[in-house]
Amino acid sequence: MQKVRKAVIPVAGFGTRFLPASKATPKEMMPIVDKPIIQYIVEEAVDSGIETIIFVTGRHKRAIEDHFDYAPDLEETLERSGKKELVELIRRISNMAEFIYVRQKEQLGLGHAILTAEHAVGNEPFAVLLGDELIINEKNPGLKQLIDVYYKFGKSVVGTTEVPKEDTSKYGIVDGKLIEDGLRLVNYMVEKPSPEEAPSTSAIIGRYVLTPDIFDALKKTPFGKGGELQLTDALMILREKEVIYSKDIEGIRHDTGNKLGYIKAIVDFALEREDTKEFMKNLILEKAKKLNEK
Ligand code: G1P
Repeated sequence: MQKVRKAVIPVAGFGTRFLPASKATPKEMMPIVDKPIIQYIVEEAVDSGIETIIFVTGRHKRAIEDHFDYAPDLEETLERSGKKELVELIRRISNMAEFIYVRQKEQLGLGHAILTAEHAVGNEPFAVLLGDELIINEKNPGLKQLIDVYYKFGKSVVGTTEVPKEDTSKYGIVDGKLIEDGLRLVNYMVEKPSPEEAPSTSAIIGRYVLTPDIFDALKKTPFGKGGELQLTDALMILREKEVIYSKDIEGIRHDTGNKLGYIKAIVDFALEREDTKEFMKNLILEKAKKLNEK
């Protein structure tokens, strides 16, 4: 079986939910405490065994390229002031993987972004990670859980989780036959159905392992929901040819693609980190006390 070596990360979107912050800065570069969201995503991929990251990028996304590149002037300044640890910290970011950048000239949907990466992926299985969701599982990274399923069956796998019925219209929804704990053989998938139309509450959460046959499927896929080329629709076309699995991902999920989820992620991370947890805990207690007094 071929190794899953490459991961595609689409980052061309405008990030309209984060304006004005995302006017000149990619939303993927917004920090959770002091690390940009995109670095957490790349680290999950690398911890899952990925060696090459293919960013599908667009105009105004230079900051992402710079983040994963060497920064000789910054390193030199830090070196001169004896800040060796910081030099190592920023060097490690660029040495984590090989980085490839492919430009998506028009934004025609997630399926179109994946198709844009075809020549960089070639004829091998690959992963897709979407930057709106952070999945934290230190023992067994989210993507790794899908790659393990791929190594068992050699077929495409989508990462899922259960969501409340009223939220189905935010996700691709999967209907499948349960074959093991959390593992399903997919019957049907639909992009962002209303709660009445949704066949289940099993939602796709932005992690995929795909066979290269997805590219042919994408080429045959008509534009779907929102006038966009949908990866979910292409997966339904791929399913006519080969089986697809869905796997409930275990871990703590943070939806950083919207303001409230983003704020919550910062609070949660600050409560976990050694250097910030005492401060954050005291701050919350103090604020709660004040709110109760009102
Ligand atoms: C995309 C996918 C959708 C998936 C979601 C997860 O939608 O099309 O199937 O459930 O990511 O975040 P988007 O949120 O980019 O509109």
